Order: sequence, then structure tokens, then C-alpha cells
Amino acid sequence: NRSFENIETAVKGKIGLIELNRPKVLNALNRQMVTEILEAMEQYDRDPDIKIIVLAGKGRAFAAGADIDEMMDADAISLETLNQFTDWDRLAWIKKPIIGAVHGFALGGAFELALCCDMLFASEKAEFGFPEVNLGIMPGAGGTQRLTKLVGKTKAMEWVLSGKRISATEALHFGIINSTFAEEVLMEETMKFAGNIANQPPLAVRMIKESIHKAVDYSLYEGMQYERKNFYLLFASEDQKEGMRAFKEKRKPDFKGK
Ligand code: CAA
Repeated sequence: NRSFENIETAVKGKIGLIELNRPKVLNALNRQMVTEILEAMEQYDRDPDIKIIVLAGKGRAFAAGADIDEMMDADAISLETLNQFTDWDRLAWIKKPIIGAVHGFALGGAFELALCCDMLFASEKAEFGFPEVNLGIMPGAGGTQRLTKLVGKTKAMEWVLSGKRISATEALHFGIINSTFAEEVLMEETMKFAGNIANQPPLAVRMIKESIHKAVDYSLYEGMQYERKNFYLLFASEDQKEGMRAFKEKRKPDFKGK
């Protein structure tokens, strides 16, 4: 376990919590913070006692986007050689479910980070958006791609071209987030939900996450082949035997993740 400067981590039962922690700048994501988020996630992913990851922000926002101070003097060649967004690709390799809890703002890179989560809960007053256009740039960590795949071209064009904010109500309406809660209970409700998923059979959870992600990338035919193999694979697990036996014996299953 290493200590982090820009995030805080805490283990709550089977949940690995990551909180963005630069509240003075509304958790603006500098490169180091993104690297730390990935390192913490990979650490949780390797830890057999952790079953799910929750991502949230400290202070008055989830995060207000990439760190503009860090970016303003950047040039194209340094961004290319630094491979600015390479850490974001590693996010796709996290096997355990990631739940985001968004309060306040999730703008720009922070909205992109939120869109990388497997599920999102938000406070009723949360606001999402891609304000990059107002800075003379555009989303660069998946925003135009993920948002469009999620809500379709019509709203993605409107939101990304205008840079206007998306309310939690609108985000809920368009399926960007799973539920809204009053800000006071957002973390409690998110942790409760995460706790329930953490008690599901881990191998089934893993295969379900993988298969749903493939639905975004693959054709229906390829996706169905992928799903089917995962379905077959689960019949090699003890948890499948245990789950079905427990059903027949009318008792609660005791899943081991094997
Ligand atoms: N980068 C660096 N600093 C930031 C920041 C950011 N993205 N967002 C906020 N801050 C800083 C502010 O400069 C301010 O610092 P000072 O107190 O030193 O002035 C502090 O955080 C508090 O912010 P505000 O005083 O602006 O707070 P507010 O409540 O009045 O406004 C806000 C909140 C509307 C979110 C506003 O801060 C804002 O518009 N932030 C920038 C949002 C943005 O454009 N994000 C996109 C960045 S580009 C990107 O993300 C590219 C990508 O795809 C990866």
C-alpha cells in the first residue's frame, strides 16, 4: 500500500473507496491524480478481499475537470510524448465493478471519469457537462465517444458543442446515471448499493461486467458469442454449484468466488 497525495483511499468491508482530494481546486484532475486513481484501482482489483470500488470527490464537487493550470501551457508534442491520456486506457482493465458517487460538479475530464464508472449515483443537485469548447478545446479522454455511445448523437452534439450543463434530472432521464439521492445521503446510499453487489458471487459479477462492456464495442453477433463463453465458463465454478444447490435446498448460498 502506498500513500497518495491527490486522493484518499479507505477500505470499508468489501468496498474499496477512492476519494478525489484536491478540494481547494474542486478536485481538478492533474496527471498525478489520474495516475493515483489508477494505481489505487489496480491495487483494489488485485486485493481478494475487495469486491467493488466506489469513486467519489471530497469537498464541494466530484471534480471540475482536468487541471487547467497544468494544461494551459501544454503543446501538442509534449501531450503526445507524455501520452497524456494513457492512464485512462488502464481503467478499462479494472475487473471489479466501479460505482461513482457524484455531487456538485462533474465537468470535462471529471465527467469522462464518471462515464468510465460502471454505475453512477448522483446528488439531486449534481451537474454534469463538457465545457471544453468554452476553452477552445474538446473532450480528450473519451467524452465524445462514451457520451455518444450512451445517449446517441442528438444529445451528445447538443451538449458537447454548447458546453452547457446537464442537470441530475436530465442525466437520469437520458440514462447517464442510475439514481439520484439527496446530497446528505448520497454516500450512504451508494455504499449500501455497493455492499449488496459486493455480496454477489464474484465470478458471475466479473463475467457480467466484462460481457456488458463488450456490448458497447462488439457487434451483436460477436457480443453474443462472448457472452455465451462466459456463461459456459461459470459452470466451471464452485459458486454455480453452490448457487443452484442452495436454491434447491431452500437456503442462502455461500459464495466463495471460486
Ligand atoms: N482546473 C484548475 N483549477 C480549477 C478548475 C480546473 N478545471 N476548476 C476549478 N478550479 C479552481 C478555480 O480556479 C478556483 O481556484 P482559486 O480559488 O484559486 O481561484 C477554485 O478551483 C474554485 O473554483 P471557482 O472559484 O471557479 O468555483 P465556482 O463555484 O465559482 O465555479 C466551476 C465552479 C463552474 C466548476 C468553475 O470552477 C469552472 O468553470 N471550472 C472549470 C471547468 C472546466 O472548464 N473543466 C474542463 C477542463 S478541460 C478538460 O477536462 C479536458 C479533458 O477532456 C481532459
